[in-house]
Amino acid sequence: MAQPRLLQLRINGASHHVAAPSHWTLLEVLRYELDLIGTKQGCDKGDCGACTVQVDGHPVLSCLTLACQAQGRAVQTVEGLGFSSPSGCHPLQDAFDRYDAAQCGFCTPGILMSAHAMIERLRRPVTRDEAKEGIAGNLCRCTGYTKIIDAIVDASERVFGEAGAATASGEAVTHG
Ligand code: FES
Ligand code: FES
Repeated sequence: MAQPRLLQLRINGASHHVAAPSHWTLLEVLRYELDLIGTKQGCDKGDCGACTVQVDGHPVLSCLTLACQAQGRAVQTVEGLGFSSPSGCHPLQDAFDRYDAAQCGFCTPGILMSAHAMIERLRRPVTRDEAKEGIAGNLCRCTGYTKIIDAIVDASERVFGEAGAATASGEAVTHG
């Protein structure tokens, strides 16, 4: 059995010291060492997107990323998505709730992380085509995607549209 290696990871703004075998993926460390089980283990081979997290703001498949590769970088998981919102719930999460964009919910954390990375990169309301492209690597077996796309477009308008700017100035809605 491989010797555990001491890793220092920054996850959702907090520093963690973890001893894990050097071949462990970021997904394994998140779920089995840090109990951050919002990140889902689906195919475990890069096909489904359920394990998507952000590293330095970019969506990555944590099942294909060695944990040691994430050292010195900022990792964000779905557990940290609402940290900067007063309600603790990011506008994307609120929109998924309002649009009934989740059924079994297994794909939802990965889709949220992909969609969040996209709207933070574009920093404006997104089109339906942009929303589709943003989550192109995420598979959902339940919803048919329509409500997911509706929710992503709505959230981008709330965060970066005129309504979002007006609301943000009143500090009712912020984005993480
Ligand atoms: S679990 Fe990583 S892509 Fe499916
Ligand atoms: S809601 Fe079930 S896989 Fe997407």
